Amino acid sequence: MKNIVVLVSGGGTNLQALIDAEKRGEIKGGKITCVIASKADAYALERAKNNGIKTRTLIRRDFPDVSAYSRAMRDALLEEKADLVVYAGFMTILDEQVCEAFPNKMINVHPALIPSFCGKGFYGLHVHEAALAKGVKVSGATVHFVTSECDAGPIILQKAVEVKSGDTPEVLQRRIMEQAEWKILPQAVSLFCQDKIHVENGVTVIDD
Ligand code: GAR
Repeated sequence: MKNIVVLVSGGGTNLQALIDAEKRGEIKGGKITCVIASKADAYALERAKNNGIKTRTLIRRDFPDVSAYSRAMRDALLEEKADLVVYAGFMTILDEQVCEAFPNKMINVHPALIPSFCGKGFYGLHVHEAALAKGVKVSGATVHFVTSECDAGPIILQKAVEVKSGDTPEVLQRRIMEQAEWKILPQAVSLFCQDKIHVENGVTVIDD
């Protein structure tokens, strides 16, 4: 069984999707063993506690800089014996110390079809504001490996979602969560835990 550690900053609906999938037996070969929040008031922490999952908090402002925060996060992940680290709405920047300790063992869910609407500044509702401002007719979600370059690691799964006329950022965000994120994140986690994802020349190959 692989130890899955989930990093969160906010509401934690993606964490909930993972918890629900695990309960349905859909996370094969893995178990969520710890949830680490970057904010003390993250509702995701309640979701973890309600499901008997160990929680920790690592608050960014308790550390002088990104490097010290990243070192503390790396040490926490090593202490938790993480086999897989999942960024599920985790909004705090970590530097290469963490990626280097967990190469191709960290995955992130991003609420757009990478390489569109990603990188620095594209997080949460901002992603959907940018998609609507551009007038795209299709957006979606991407699960990818985390590397030291923001949102640039190998893509694991993507799912497209229709943009409808009259959408607000909030409405589009919710549709993308429901139709894409909450589905492909548990799928990618399960594939990882079954050792079915391989990275070759910077792209992923997924076993059937
Ligand atoms: C989700 O839409 C997630 O994809 C996004 O923040 C939201 C968190 O919701 N993440 C990013 O934008 C990361 N770049 P949640 O806390 O309810 O899972």
